[in-house]
Amino acid sequence: MDKLQITGGTALEGEVRISGAKNAALPILAATLLADGPASIGNVPHLQDVTTMIELLGRMGVSVTVDERMRIEVDCSTLRQPVAPYELVKTMRASILVLGPLLARFGQADVSLPGGCAIGARPVNIHVAGLQAMGANIAIENGYIRAKAARLKGTRLVLETVTVTGTENLMMAAALADGVTVLENAAREPEVVDLANFLIAMGAKIRGAGTDTIEIEGVERLQGVPYEVLPDRIEAGTYLLAGAITSGRVRVKNTRPEHLDAVLQKLAEAGATVTSGSNWIEVDMRGRRPKAVDVRTAPYPAFPTDMQAQFAALNTVADGVGTIIETIFENRFMHMLEMRRMGAEIRLEGNTAIIKGVPQLQAAPVMATDLRASASLVLAALVAHGRTDIERIYHIDRGYEGIEEKLAQLGAKIRRVPN
Ligand code: EPU
Repeated sequence: MDKLQITGGTALEGEVRISGAKNAALPILAATLLADGPASIGNVPHLQDVTTMIELLGRMGVSVTVDERMRIEVDCSTLRQPVAPYELVKTMRASILVLGPLLARFGQADVSLPGGCAIGARPVNIHVAGLQAMGANIAIENGYIRAKAARLKGTRLVLETVTVTGTENLMMAAALADGVTVLENAAREPEVVDLANFLIAMGAKIRGAGTDTIEIEGVERLQGVPYEVLPDRIEAGTYLLAGAITSGRVRVKNTRPEHLDAVLQKLAEAGATVTSGSNWIEVDMRGRRPKAVDVRTAPYPAFPTDMQAQFAALNTVADGVGTIIETIFENRFMHMLEMRRMGAEIRLEGNTAIIKGVPQLQAAPVMATDLRASASLVLAALVAHGRTDIERIYHIDRGYEGIEEKLAQLGAKIRRVPN
């Protein structure tokens, strides 16, 4: 298993191009199951999770071709078995995204129940209850969700909690259902909107994506089309933090500043000069130590849970005391314990972390526990004194395309070595 070796202390400087969004590419690839005729998806990031989704589609008999620029063509006319097996679902929870499309298009789906995960219990009860309310017959047997439906029926659903993949699953199912489905308390994330735009391009009738009420009028069929995935706002935010934490200057290109409002506001509060154009953002923290900031995670457009760990890293070396409150996942603080081993002063009280900035972190061997936790350890290592070895970086490869090349391009001393 590879590890990353990072020698801290260089102020990062330069430009980096942001890849397509993992959390938009995954539902969009799942949505190709709804299409008659091939769909062709571009700006797909080259990531382990995308490979897993391709493998999942392939196992079902779907024909998938990938060109050298990661443009993916999917034709589901060859589908043989609507099954998402345990061995793939256990490596990627987002596999649950095939449940809605399979059921709506093929009338049947057997999808392994995802288990618990390093950041929380993450149940899928809202996905299941929504499909049942649309007329699906669902049994949980031998760890699998076994679902059947002649044709799903549109209905009004009030989602008990704001759920991103839950909203996506139900929106995809409703796109081919009979009648109108209304999703109340829907997730408003840009990735939900990107999926809706893809479905609309294929012929779906969807209104209100990006608000908390989405109305979907089912159609008889959808037609595969070419589509480009939106840029990854979390990847962009992570590189901007790399600039800020190292007291450097980083510009991210191919991004959508309007998707990062809450993050940019916190960067400005931390003392960075933030400028942006239509598709770029620059953070300049040269010659300054960041100031500690308070962060409370909540569904979009509020501060994203996927940026919480990176701001925790910033606070560990900032001037002052910053509080991080995690309201989405109950166990998303594993990185705090690793950062403590690097000399960070962090007190944990339930879902709150109180972080007192220290002038200097020390390098230490650390372990990545989930995707964003890994990103925060990379950030901490970039400012620590000495060489930090980060193990279990397969987590990073699930969500950050070419992280060592991109960071090296900004001047970081980083290399990947086999363990
Ligand atoms: N929840 C339920 N029941 C459900 C579904 C969700 O109780 O049926 C709860 C969850 O346990 C959690 C809350 O609702 O407490 C919100 O979870 P959500 O369903 O929104 O999360 P998700 O859809 O599983 C997506 C992203 C995550 C991101 C979260 C929150 C994808 C593939 N994953 O997960 O991304 O953290 O939304 O924004 O879109 C990551 O990229 O590192 C990552 C974990």
